[in-house]
Amino acid sequence: MGVAHRSTPTRGRTPASKPAPRRAAAPLPPEVDAWLKAAALDVADDGIVISDATTPDAPIVYVSPSFERLVGYSAGEILGTNCRMVQGPGTDRETVKQIAIALQAGKVFQGEILNYRKDGTPFWNFLRIAPIRDASGRVTHHVGTQSDVTELHQSREREHELRDTVAHASRVRTVAALGASLAHEVNQPLAAIVVNAEAALRFLDACNTEEIREALEAIRDDARRAGEIILRAHRLVRKQPAQAEPVDAARVAADVLEFTRVRLRHAGIEAKLDARATLPRVVVDAVQLYQAILNLVVNAIEAMEGNAPGAPRTLRIAVGAEDGGVRVRVSDTGHGADDESLARMAQTFHTTKARGTGLGLLVTRSLVEAHGGRLEVARNRGRGLTFTIHLPGEDHP
Ligand SMILES: Cc1cc2nc3c(=O)[nH]c(=O)nc-3n(C[C@H](O)[C@H](O)[C@H](O)COP(=O)(O)O)c2cc1C
Ligand SMILES: Nc1ncnc2c1ncn2[C@@H]1O[C@H](COP(=O)(O)OP(=O)(O)OP(=O)(O)O)[C@@H](O)[C@H]1O
Ligand SMILES: [Mg+2]
Repeated sequence: MGVAHRSTPTRGRTPASKPAPRRAAAPLPPEVDAWLKAAALDVADDGIVISDATTPDAPIVYVSPSFERLVGYSAGEILGTNCRMVQGPGTDRETVKQIAIALQAGKVFQGEILNYRKDGTPFWNFLRIAPIRDASGRVTHHVGTQSDVTELHQSREREHELRDTVAHASRVRTVAALGASLAHEVNQPLAAIVVNAEAALRFLDACNTEEIREALEAIRDDARRAGEIILRAHRLVRKQPAQAEPVDAARVAADVLEFTRVRLRHAGIEAKLDARATLPRVVVDAVQLYQAILNLVVNAIEAMEGNAPGAPRTLRIAVGAEDGGVRVRVSDTGHGADDESLARMAQTFHTTKARGTGLGLLVTRSLVEAHGGRLEVARNRGRGLTFTIHLPGEDHP
């Protein structure tokens, strides 16, 4: 689409010359004025609709030719009806409700809504409806402007799909990388189950019901534990559309630490979680938040694995309230980064690891930003780095 640039009349002038005084535009004769406005409406790309707010069900009193082209109905078919005629089965009822509320309150509505042309093809309509008031302030009409933003919408959807696909691929990779420690983790309760089952069988011969009960209870708890570990891995590997819901970020952080427990232990890292008992909930996809924190934790572990003996290996996750939302801070005492690496981490994707993809931080950042939040990184006063995820609270628009 072409972009009109305003001409800049002073450019190219010698500095000494004064700008010519603007000539006042002569008023147009009424018939030219009317013709010019009609011609402008004719060539305009956006649809324009005016409805009468003083008559029940606000009938349409004017439609521009561009609106006719946009929806495929002729003015004759539309005039006197209500614009809801372009809505259809896929139109979001919540958006329709918002329009009704805005119109009722005499406010401007602006938003995207799925509409349908006369031939049934759907299109995304970027709709703006504003009230027109008479001298006494009474709303007499509404003017709506519509533009077809289907392509923009589709490219945004493709972008979301791509982000979800990359995030998923990165999750599968993380789970695969943690696979060995996960197998180890599942093996522990399974081994305990076998031991307890054998004991229960022995107690059966002696008819020792109390001991049998204890063994069976232990078996039940271990089986649950093993099941949970597998379920967590499965949740990360499963491909499903993102679903935002109110989530307790501290619970998610605790789950991440549970998931990485064996890996942390193998690396000799002490992990701490500081979380306030009552935190605002954040509306996010729980798996994506889990992944965002998991990526930071895996990076923190990798940054400390090379620490010299004696150097502290501490991972700290602090979850706190902030501006009605939540911040999740992941600090390590690893090798840290110089200014240049820090700047690179905050912008593009790159890796310094032989088997890294450099996608971890990119995925974390894009997941956090998709939820209206942001990711920051800073050097600690002592060793290592601190990554902070800032997430808006439930009331965030
Ligand atoms: C001037 C004007 C233009 C409108 N244009 C559209 C439109 O292009 N597409 C749409 O879905 N709704 C449009 N609407 C909204 C509907 O006409 C209607 O107000 C909305 O569906 C809410 O009312 P309802 O709950 O009674 O249907 C427009 C409303 C006005 C006043
Ligand atoms: N906690 C950290 N301490 C020091 N450097 C870090 C830390 N986290 C990330 N980095 C640096 O940022 C780079 C990018 O991290 P990112 O998670 O995006 O990719 P990666 O860890 O290299 O690969 P992958 O996540 O795919 O395994 C890392 O290679 C590392 O150099
Ligand atoms: Mg990483």
